[in-house]
Amino acid sequence: MPAYYGEFGGAFVPELLTPPLRELEAAMARYLTDPAFRSDLDDLLANYAGRPTPLTYCPTLSRELGIELFLKREDLLHGGAHKINNTLGQALLAKYMGKTKLIAETGAGQHGVATAIAAARLNLEAIVFMGAVDVERQAPNVARMRLLGTEVRAVDEGTRTLKDAINAALRHWIEYQGDTHYCFGTAAGPHPFPTLVAEFQRVIGQEIKEEFLRLRGALPAKVVACVGGGSNAIGAFLSFLEDPEVGLIGVEAGGTGEENCHNSAPLNLGSPGILHGQLSYLLQTPEGQVSPSHSVSAGLDYPGVGPQHSFLKTSGRATYAKINDAEALAAFQALCRQEGVIPALESSHALAWVLQNYRSLAPRETVVVNLSGRGDKDLGIARKFLRDLF
Ligand SMILES: Cc1ncc(COP(=O)(O)O)c(C=O)c1O
Repeated sequence: MPAYYGEFGGAFVPELLTPPLRELEAAMARYLTDPAFRSDLDDLLANYAGRPTPLTYCPTLSRELGIELFLKREDLLHGGAHKINNTLGQALLAKYMGKTKLIAETGAGQHGVATAIAAARLNLEAIVFMGAVDVERQAPNVARMRLLGTEVRAVDEGTRTLKDAINAALRHWIEYQGDTHYCFGTAAGPHPFPTLVAEFQRVIGQEIKEEFLRLRGALPAKVVACVGGGSNAIGAFLSFLEDPEVGLIGVEAGGTGEENCHNSAPLNLGSPGILHGQLSYLLQTPEGQVSPSHSVSAGLDYPGVGPQHSFLKTSGRATYAKINDAEALAAFQALCRQEGVIPALESSHALAWVLQNYRSLAPRETVVVNLSGRGDKDLGIARKFLRDLF
């Protein structure tokens, strides 16, 4: 199991975190290919989470843009996003490891809710660390987690957002590693988390490939996914890495789009550096301080990105674009109106790339957009920015 993707990755952590990371790596080697584990996970994914998810053809947008546009419908999963693929996998692994407690970090609350769901289903105790600012601005997801029986712990340090929540969770893990598994929310962080999370999200691309071959007898020309920490995108890409004819496009959040604005696009605008135990692209000052990030979509609002994406960028196998807040909101509205699907603002960034670049695609080129989540959680933001509608 690789600790590095090219030069990126690694585990730059305090010594006290080495034992639980090693224990996790050993558990992955033991259980991920174990038939009993696979069968338990497949059952949860199929009969609890709702896999496989459909591949939906978009007739109106396809006609308008002159391409063939499909959506991979991760928004239809239980909980409303791809995050559940990872939390069910990690919660089950924790059970197999004999752990009784989960901890997790969350920014917007999506991964926190997915962790709370998995913990309730598998009878594990859970604590979710969340920046105090996020606890306030994501109140509905805090309520969901509490309803599901999870303790939400507000983190009152630093910028009081996601990066501080991760630091608090890592510190807690040092102290309670005996009975606790850290259910990390994206394909980033110290080894082996990037590999573990990618493994649990791999199913997205596997299904796209199988379904597309069944429908069209060929592979799609492009697979497009938004990139926060990178888990839905790496899940969508993995099955196509050895198919060079399939273009892989990751879409980061460009912020407001004004010159020198805060953004969440480390692969486009950052440089290699270390954050949360990994070497990867990072938004940072020339002195090496982590820069604050911004995106209208809370799930993309992170200054770092998983190491495999840094490798795919530098190796040229995937390309990474950025989309600003207004462009994402326009795509959000287009999908609602034209196709009757309310997408998450995160996923709207991926669709916005298609709306912006369709002229450079071949006529009737086949494009799959990974619709990582549903947009009900974003109605408050839509109301604020699309005022003429409400
Ligand atoms: C719906 C949705 N899509 C995408 C993301 C971004 O995360 P990742 O890059 O790990 O897929 C999030 C994060 O919360 C999310 O909720």
